[in-house]
Amino acid sequence: MSFGAGKIWMNGQFVDWADAKIHVASHVVHYGSGVFEGARCYDTPKGAACFRLHEHIRRLYDSAKIYRMEYDISQADLQDVVLETIRINEYQACYIRPLMYRGYNTLGVNPFSCPVEMAILVWEWGAYLGEDSLENGVDVQVSSWGRGAPNRFPSLSKATANYANSQLIKMESVVHGYAEGIALDPMGFLSEGSGQNLFLVRDRVITTPPIAAATLPGITRDVVMTIAKELGFTVREELQPREALYIADEVFFTGTAAEITPIRSVDKITIGSGHRGPITQVIQQRFFDIIAGREPDTHGWLTYVYPESERQEAAEATARAR
Ligand SMILES: Cc1ncc(COP(=O)(O)O)c(C=O)c1O
Repeated sequence: MSFGAGKIWMNGQFVDWADAKIHVASHVVHYGSGVFEGARCYDTPKGAACFRLHEHIRRLYDSAKIYRMEYDISQADLQDVVLETIRINEYQACYIRPLMYRGYNTLGVNPFSCPVEMAILVWEWGAYLGEDSLENGVDVQVSSWGRGAPNRFPSLSKATANYANSQLIKMESVVHGYAEGIALDPMGFLSEGSGQNLFLVRDRVITTPPIAAATLPGITRDVVMTIAKELGFTVREELQPREALYIADEVFFTGTAAEITPIRSVDKITIGSGHRGPITQVIQQRFFDIIAGREPDTHGWLTYVYPESERQEAAEATARAR
C-alpha cells in the first residue's frame, strides 16, 4: 500500500484513509497548533521493526508539553497503538506519522477550549532526497532564511508551526535547483536543513551544531553520534560558521526521512572529493546494518511489530523462497 491508502488511527478508532477528516475551522488549520513525529519501521530478517519508537514517542510528548497540549493516553499505550496501526495495514516497512493537534471549537488564538486530538498515519516512503542520494550525495545551498530564535519558536518541539520556516527553506532551494537548504541560526552559525540535522567532518573529527543553534534534537543525530563514538571517532557539538561547510572534508545530513545523506556541494562549492566521503560511508554502513537487522541490536533500538510466531513463519517462508 502507498500514501493515500489503508487505515488511519484517529482518536481511538481506525478509519479509512479517505475518511480521516477534520473540520476546516479546526484550530490547527489556522494557527499551526500541532506537534508531530516521523519514525520508520524497517523490514529486518527477524520481521518488521520500528527504529527508536520509544524515543520518537517521548519527543512527541515533549513537543506537546512545550505547547501545553495533553492527550489522555500514556506513552506506552500510544506505542502499542502505533504497532497496531502498522499491523492493521500489514506493513513490513513504512514511515510512521503520529500527529497531535488542536481541533474544532472556537477560532480565537487562545487554543485552550479546542480539543486536543490525535492521529497516526503510516505509509511506504523511500529515500527522502532521491534513491541515488544516499550513495552519490546531494547539492545544497545555504538558505537565505534563518532558523527561528530560541525565544521565538522552540526548536525542541517538533511543532507543525516550525515547518512554515522549513517550507521557506525547502522551496527556495528547489526553485534555485538544489536538493535542500541549510539554515543558519539567529547568530549566523550553522543550524540544520529544512528537515535534517547537519554533520561536518574535518581531519577525521566529526562535528554537529548544538541544540542551542535552533536545531531539532534529532534521533538520527543521536544515533550517528553514538555510532561514530563507538567507531572511535571524536564527535563534538560545536557552533560553527557557514564557511566551515566549504572547507570540510565531508558534510552529511541525518534524519528519519533522509537517513544519512552525503552532501557533495554547498553553494556550488565542492565538498572534499565531491563524492560520499569515507567517514560518511563507514557510519552509513553501520547505520544501515543496524536498521536492517544485520548487526546485533545492542542498544535496544528496535521494537518488533508482529508477534514472534508470525515473524518466525515469515523468516521460514523467506528462507524457503531462496
Ligand atoms: C527540522 C528537522 N531537523 C532534524 C530532523 C531529524 O530528526 P530525526 O533524526 O529525529 O528524524 C528533522 C526530522 O524530523 C527535522 O524536521
